[in-house]
Amino acid sequence: MENTLEKIRKIRELKRKELDIRVNDNVGTKEKHILVCHGTGCTSSKSPKIIETFKKIIKDKNLKDVRVIQTGCFGLCAKGPIVIIRPEDTFYAMVSPDDCEEIIQSHIIEGKVVERLLCKDIDGTKAQKLDDLTFYKKQKRIALKNCGKIDPEQIEEYIAFDGYKALEKVLLQMTPDEVIDEIEKSGLRGRGGAGFPTGKKWRLTKNVEGKQKYVVCNADEGDPRSIYG
Ligand code: FES
Repeated sequence: MENTLEKIRKIRELKRKELDIRVNDNVGTKEKHILVCHGTGCTSSKSPKIIETFKKIIKDKNLKDVRVIQTGCFGLCAKGPIVIIRPEDTFYAMVSPDDCEEIIQSHIIEGKVVERLLCKDIDGTKAQKLDDLTFYKKQKRIALKNCGKIDPEQIEEYIAFDGYKALEKVLLQMTPDEVIDEIEKSGLRGRGGAGFPTGKKWRLTKNVEGKQKYVVCNADEGDPRSIYG
């Protein structure tokens, strides 16, 4: 376990530096990350083809320091496919594979924003960034805060943005009773129908004597009728 946690910490440290460009607008690098939404809506509007086209142009032009990353849904599917370029955070909406050449030439090579692909806000003004849109201004993403910033198919990117940190804390810094206290305080419940409190289930199980323990649930109600040590 120590070994595994040590590996996770190393990945987090190294990868986090490499991915600072995704969250820090002033990272001071020549590098560009082209984030292309690969959520269901954008995928059905050809975002895989956009990714493929960007990669081909970058290869053909032999561009260094430019990466193409597939991301999860940005939450504005009606304006998809969505492309965001970091670190400047420029947000392009309703992009088609035919727009890739212009984005690379104008934005990446010449440093000029492709105005026609910027998204119109409800007052008709064009938004440079996703967060400038009225739709986003009052939102604070919590569980999905990294959606659109990381490639969901790369576990290292998840770890870089604090993935498994709670597990690390539980294993290294908390006692079993402290963990159960937290779960009880959270109010977490089972979803089998009875809504049995998870913390209570864990506490009952912990207090039973024996090395191996079995929680036997009532199939209809989902509550732990018997706990055996
Ligand atoms: S699927 Fe692309 S923004 Fe939702």
